[in-house]
Amino acid sequence: MTKITVDIHHESAQYPILIQDSIYDELNDFVNNGYRDRDIVIITDDNINALFGDKIQKVLANRNPHIRSIQPGERSKSRETKAQIEDEMLGKEFGRDTLIIAFGGGVVGDLSGFVASTYKRGIPVIQIPTSLLAMVDSAIGGKTAINTIYGKNLIGSFWQPEAVFVGMEFLVRLPEPEFLNGLAEAVKMAIVFDEEFFEYFENNSQKILARDNEALTHIVERCITLKKEVVEEDEKESGLRQCLNFGHTIGHAVESIAGYNEKHGFCVAMGMAAETQLAALTGALSWTDADRILKLLEKMHLPNTINEKYEKQLMYKKMKSDKKAVNQTPMFVTLQGLGKVKKNKNQFSFSFDKSTVLKAISLVK
Ligand SMILES: NC(=O)c1ccc[n+]([C@@H]2O[C@H](COP(=O)([O-])OP(=O)(O)OC[C@H]3O[C@@H](n4cnc5c(N)ncnc54)[C@H](O)[C@@H]3O)[C@@H](O)[C@H]2O)c1
Ligand SMILES: [Zn+2]
Repeated sequence: MTKITVDIHHESAQYPILIQDSIYDELNDFVNNGYRDRDIVIITDDNINALFGDKIQKVLANRNPHIRSIQPGERSKSRETKAQIEDEMLGKEFGRDTLIIAFGGGVVGDLSGFVASTYKRGIPVIQIPTSLLAMVDSAIGGKTAINTIYGKNLIGSFWQPEAVFVGMEFLVRLPEPEFLNGLAEAVKMAIVFDEEFFEYFENNSQKILARDNEALTHIVERCITLKKEVVEEDEKESGLRQCLNFGHTIGHAVESIAGYNEKHGFCVAMGMAAETQLAALTGALSWTDADRILKLLEKMHLPNTINEKYEKQLMYKKMKSDKKAVNQTPMFVTLQGLGKVKKNKNQFSFSFDKSTVLKAISLVK
């Protein structure tokens, strides 16, 4: 078992992240020690519930948890679903002394965290991420959100969990596209923060794609440690946290044009390919390193080209209205090497001429 502790200085809070094959014993100990007097609501989705719902209910049987399963998918991250869960909890008279357990992927995690942060002005939540994306990204850092018709993740809060329990055994059942989706964000962490980790991906691609437990555990541990460091340094997303946005400026444009019907991780991979070329074009990154990044994406079964159907001018227009654009100018996390990004004081994203951005996109068409 690996235990990583996250220190949230701003809120003088601390929480553990436990990584092990099976989490049930530790979970049971944790809730029966610190949370003995609390009612428990498990929020999950129908896929996870069908696969692992019986088991978690059995493990926590002495606490008689209430289980609430939502429809799988991004559409459940809505005001409506939040209100339904809240009304159900209010109707069943769950008080301030309730503990929420978020049991699922990023959708369940973001939604449950947000419910927890506002229910009776805030109740504790434990995160149990079950998708690779949730393990390496969404369950760590305390960001919660729902979507609106105006865009994704526009309403939400920062709400730190009591603990995060990462169980590697869950990944065995994850569908392949979901697995690759999470892998894209993991590769991003290596590109942006850690050259040695990047080499690990290069040298262990077969094992990783075969979901070798040891390889995946290493990846999850490394990503969580890296994200923890970023979050501790920059809880409210002023500086360093910008780096997590590598590949996302162009990736979000693709995602938006695709009407959100293309997987986020795949769009980010396309974005990373184009933003890598952008860094090379502007002289910040060597062409040799750029080439290694494009090759690694391919090796990881991720896209490293952008389909012609995504029109460059339209992509640029989308980037200008992205929530991270500054005065309608798209901003880019700019690589200077493997594991190295350009920095100016507390700023980690930069703007470039429109023509250079369009040229970078052309290079991966
Ligand atoms: N809060 C943050 O910091 C943060 C960061 C990144 C992403 N996100 C959010 O995360 C969400 C995406 O998360 P996601 O990719 O986990 O999506 P998801 O929760 O929809 O899960 C993907 C699919 O995999 C299924 N699944 C999950 N674990 C499984 C398992 N072990 N076995 C079988 N099936 C399983 C789910 O039922 C679902 O169908 C987005 O809403 C995104 O905005 C949040
Ligand atoms: Zn992302």
